[in-house]
Amino acid sequence: MYALPPGAPSNLADAFDHLASVRVPTVTDLTVMMLVEAAGKQMYDDLADGCADAGVRRLLQDSGRDEMVHAHRMAEVLQLLTRVPYLVPENSDNPYLAGRGKPDLSIPLLDHLIEAEANGQTLYETWAANCPNQEAAMLMRTSGREEMSHSLRLRQIREGMAGEMVTP
Ligand SMILES: [Fe+2]
Ligand SMILES: [Fe+2]
Repeated sequence: MYALPPGAPSNLADAFDHLASVRVPTVTDLTVMMLVEAAGKQMYDDLADGCADAGVRRLLQDSGRDEMVHAHRMAEVLQLLTRVPYLVPENSDNPYLAGRGKPDLSIPLLDHLIEAEANGQTLYETWAANCPNQEAAMLMRTSGREEMSHSLRLRQIREGMAGEMVTP
């Protein structure tokens, strides 16, 4: 199992809550973000697995692939700032995936994720603005823009689901 840095939140929900409050990230915060992003890939894949609609499944899997790219981008950010190599762990070694459940795609969950992804962009923008390394800041801005596209994808899925529910 990947060893969480001292002081890091011990589970995914706490990690999300903690990161949302960070304005100037420490190396620990950036490491937590790397792990959260890697966990995001699995979470999107889990949602896709439970989904009958092939189009929706593809949208979820596309966002999941981006989350793993974000994890690797965060490893690059860490390396730029610390000059030490960082590796994204396998899913089986990611402490933030331990003991997770498999939630069903529902309107309330979609609403939550739509907001969380949009907040992700704001968070990356804030971190980039407070980052002394321009290359690292650019990497974070790129991930931030993709979080907003995830939010829009989820909105598209939500509109489809809401439409189905009102169709007689
Ligand atoms: Fe992400
Ligand atoms: Fe995302």
